[in-house]
Amino acid sequence: MKKEMRPPTVVAETTPSATRAELDSPFTGVTRRRSFLKGLGVAGASLTAGALLPIPVKAQENSGRLTRGDAAILRFLAAAEIIESDLWLQYAELGGVTSGTQNPYQLAFQQLDPDGSQYISSNTIDEMSHAAFLNAYLKSKGAQPVNFDKFRTLPGSTATGAQKIKRLTNLTQLTVDTSWYVRYRSQKNPDFGATFPQAIVLEDVTAIPRNNADLGPGDHIQAIANTAAFHFAFIEQGGSSLYSAMVQKAHSVEVLRIVVSIGGDEVAHFLEWVDFAGNGVQVPVAPFTDPISGLTFPDFFNNPPLQPANLVQPSLIFPVPCEFISPNLPHVAIIRPLTDKFGGAVATIKSFTADGLFIGQSQQFLKTLQTMAAEADAAVRL
Ligand SMILES: [Fe+2]
Ligand SMILES: [Fe+2]
Repeated sequence: MKKEMRPPTVVAETTPSATRAELDSPFTGVTRRRSFLKGLGVAGASLTAGALLPIPVKAQENSGRLTRGDAAILRFLAAAEIIESDLWLQYAELGGVTSGTQNPYQLAFQQLDPDGSQYISSNTIDEMSHAAFLNAYLKSKGAQPVNFDKFRTLPGSTATGAQKIKRLTNLTQLTVDTSWYVRYRSQKNPDFGATFPQAIVLEDVTAIPRNNADLGPGDHIQAIANTAAFHFAFIEQGGSSLYSAMVQKAHSVEVLRIVVSIGGDEVAHFLEWVDFAGNGVQVPVAPFTDPISGLTFPDFFNNPPLQPANLVQPSLIFPVPCEFISPNLPHVAIIRPLTDKFGGAVATIKSFTADGLFIGQSQQFLKTLQTMAAEADAAVRL
C-alpha cells in the first residue's frame, strides 16, 4: 500500500523484551537474516549432483510413500524455491531491512513503499522456508531432495552489504518480461491464446547495484530499484502460476495440501509486488529518467504507455476478472495462466531463462532443470 513515508521498521533484534528463542526465530529477528538463512540449510543439504538425476520408477514405487508424479512435482518445486531463494537473498542483502543508516538502494525501495525493505526480507525468508520444507518433506518420504550447491558459480554484486559468495542466479543482465502487468489488468486469458504487450521495456538491465558506484546518482539507483520491483512481480507471478499448474497434478491429498498452501504464499507475494511496481510508475516517483542508462519510467496515470489506459492503471492491483474455463461463462478474477503450456514447469524454466537469470550458468545446470521440469509436467492426477 502507498503510505506516508516513515522510518523503516526496527526489528526484534533490538527489542529488549525478546526472549532468546524469539531472537533465534527468523520471523522476529529479520536483521539476523544472514545467520538465519545459513541456518536454514538451503545451501547445506548433503546430496551430490548425482541426486539430481531422475529417480527410477521402481525405486519410487518401492518407497511406497510418494507416487512418481508427486515426487517429481515436489522436486521441481524445491528446485524453483532454491532458485527463488538465491535471487531473493541477493535482493535482501542489499535492499532488505536493516536498522541504522539506509543505503541508497534501500531508500529507493522505501520510495516505492516505506515498508519495502521489510517486504524484501520477508519474501526472502519465505522462499528459504519453502525450499527447506520441500526438501525436508521429500526426505521424510524417502525421496531425494534437491541440491544445487555445485552450480553456485556466478559472481554477485560487489556493493557494500553483499556477501562475498558465488550465486546460482544473475540479476545484473536481466530482460524482464513486464507483460504480467498488462495481463492481470486485462479481461483476456493467456490460456485462451491471448498475448500481452510489455508495460515497460526492461532489456539487459541490472536489478541490483553491481557495485558501490551504482548507488548513485539518485535517479540511477531509483531506476535499478524500479527494475527490481517489476522483476519481483515477474518472479512471483511465475510462482503463482507454477503452483496453480502443479496443484492440478497432485495425487495425494497431503501433497495437494502442500502445493496449494505454498502456492497461496506465492500469490500473496505477487500481490504486494503488483502494488510496489505500480508505485514506481506514478507520482511522486515517476516520471524520471536514469541519467546513466537512459531508462525512463513514465507516470502511467498521466502518460499511459498503452491504450485503453486501464491496461496499465497502477491502482488496479487485484487480478481483473477474465475469461475462464469457457468463453460462455462469466468473467472471474483468477490467477492465470494455469496450463502447463504457459504456467507449467517447463514454461517456468523457459521464462526464467529468457529473463537472464541463468546467464553464465553451465549447460549441465540448464539440462538438469529442464529434465526435472519435464518430469513435473508429466505428472498426472491419478
Ligand atoms: Fe516460494
Ligand atoms: Fe516466490
